[in-house]
Amino acid sequence: MRLSAKILALALCLLPALAQAQPVLSPDGRIAVDFGVDGEGVPFYTVKRDGKPLIAQSQLGFNFTDAPPMRRGFVLESETRASHDGQWEQPWGERRFIRDTHNELAVTFVQAQPTARRLTVRVRVFDGGIGFRYEFPEQASLPVANIAEELTEFALARDGEAWWIQAGDSNRFEYLYQRTAVSAVSAAHTPITMRLADGTHLSFHEAALVDYSGMWLRRIEGLRFRSELSPSSQGAKVTRQGAFTTPWRTILMADGPAGLFRNDLQLNLNAPNVLGDVSWFKPQKYIGVWWEMHLEKTSWGSGPKHGATTANTLRHIDFAAEHGFAGVLVEGWNKGWDGNWFANGKDFSFTQSYPDFDIGAVTDHARRKGVRLIGHHETAGNIANYEPQLDAAMALYAKLGVNLVKTGYVADAGGITAPAPVGEGTVMEWHDGQRMAQHHLNVVQVAAKHHIAVNAHEPIKDTGLRRTYPNWVAREAARGVEYDAWGEPRNPPDHVPEMVFTRLLAGPMDFTPGVFSLEGRGGTPIPSTLARQLAYYIVVYSPIQMVADLPENLVKYPQELSFTARVPADWAESLLLDGAVGEYAVIARKDRNSQSWYVGGVTDAEPRTAMFALDFLEPGQTYVATIHRDGEGADGLGAQAAKHRIVHETRHVKKGDSLSLLMARAGGFAVSIEPVAQ
Ligand code: NOJ
Ligand code: CA
Repeated sequence: MRLSAKILALALCLLPALAQAQPVLSPDGRIAVDFGVDGEGVPFYTVKRDGKPLIAQSQLGFNFTDAPPMRRGFVLESETRASHDGQWEQPWGERRFIRDTHNELAVTFVQAQPTARRLTVRVRVFDGGIGFRYEFPEQASLPVANIAEELTEFALARDGEAWWIQAGDSNRFEYLYQRTAVSAVSAAHTPITMRLADGTHLSFHEAALVDYSGMWLRRIEGLRFRSELSPSSQGAKVTRQGAFTTPWRTILMADGPAGLFRNDLQLNLNAPNVLGDVSWFKPQKYIGVWWEMHLEKTSWGSGPKHGATTANTLRHIDFAAEHGFAGVLVEGWNKGWDGNWFANGKDFSFTQSYPDFDIGAVTDHARRKGVRLIGHHETAGNIANYEPQLDAAMALYAKLGVNLVKTGYVADAGGITAPAPVGEGTVMEWHDGQRMAQHHLNVVQVAAKHHIAVNAHEPIKDTGLRRTYPNWVAREAARGVEYDAWGEPRNPPDHVPEMVFTRLLAGPMDFTPGVFSLEGRGGTPIPSTLARQLAYYIVVYSPIQMVADLPENLVKYPQELSFTARVPADWAESLLLDGAVGEYAVIARKDRNSQSWYVGGVTDAEPRTAMFALDFLEPGQTYVATIHRDGEGADGLGAQAAKHRIVHETRHVKKGDSLSLLMARAGGFAVSIEPVAQ
């Protein structure tokens, strides 16, 4: 080992010690990324956009628990460059075809002392931003990388505003967004979105979080942020052997919100589909034995209030069949919910039903009705109990015709119970640490083997792995509609316009909308108009969309119910027509299976008029627009009657026409635009 290190050092001496590589530019030339080493040999990068500094000199490197840092004493050894221009097709998604056009630079740094160690940094520069990752070669001088901390910095060149949720806090990702100066952020989860004074929009996140710990962004001084890896029960936050790559550190860059919204950089940085044909998963709308538990009308646990009974489930299956929904989620069907289930994750069985839930009868009935049961695995964060049951649990569902399973990890942050890596017993882990990154992928892989799709709640964040594993169809990782039942506070009206430009940039969310009664637990008001509930099916993208309200409430709103049954959950294209981070969003999506378009809008606590041109329609074609909008006097923060004021109307429209629709406080609208047969 010593000898090869010496030869390496000698070989390096013979090379010119470059201080800086030539910049790599985005295809349109607007973004430039530089790499270099400073006077102490600290590797760094900088980013300019339109010639103006965006990310000032920012260090790259690592601390280890058992080896000297990879921080100083580096020289630039070599570089490779490449360009790519291609297109690929999503099996399902917010658009069918994804263009991937980027320039790439990989620079290899070598640190001569105390032992020669190499580190490659690969950057891909797109018109919409950049992604870079570290690549560790197999090297005798670092056979195992026990990473104590990743030292990647992001030094903003100028201040602006930021929308973010705190990292490292007990409720995982389920927080309301904060809007502060960039210079006032503490430690944030990603995506964190920024708007600089000149209007430049940025969003920091990561792509392809595989066998590594999730990255938080901690502001260490002024406008300088540093990666902070989610903790681990072990000494090192990440342990990897041999050659490996880190996730990509990504920065979306755009002139305005539309450029952030229509940006496929994260997906492009993930590896292509490894599952092949996943046509067994169909994008869909579903109902559930779910909202009634959140309202405390029934219970997950057994006894007289048990929600997941055979009779109640059959009633829901009949309702789904009658109204055109593909699935029925049933929670609380399996043994283990009694007592304080938050604390008793060790008691869950994923194969044994409560005696009043006849899973065979339920799935037989569903099959006859052309509906599927949607499975549920709540773990209460106890993966030590779940993992040994996983294969049998998925096999049982597969045998019964269930092909979509919702998982859950209700536990405080840091409260995941995992099997001890060595010996007996358990250890505590974080929801987004390396162990959970491994766990989630394992679940997705086992599920794929059984042709089952996964929708994870209290999950790790989305980093675009749906490209590689298209059966990972949705997840939560934000405050969903459950908070409208019992949240303190309920989701305020700016929550969704904030999520559109933050959390939802990461990927699909199982937001579980569709509460037409607009009432939470105990009849408490939900801040929303009725029309806004319809807007969610267009504004919040997911290939699975719940219609959450109780069947007896849904039938009171036949037009709205029929809209939710008809609205697609799979799109050929998606565009932001108008919007401002945290304030409002107007989104148009084209159905993947027809020539119809849908437009949805939501606003915050300000009433607003959405005006948008129908430029995206085909020339020469007449369409009928069916508009569901806030009616006169509608008010999402007002009395129940005002919240329910809705107008349904139709108009003929064509390309070049404009629509102007009033959105009430906490209001919104949904429009379907269908071609008229000619
Ligand atoms: C929290 C999830 O977000 C919710 O949808 C589910 O009903 C409960 N956990 C119980 O699993
Ligand atoms: Ca949740």
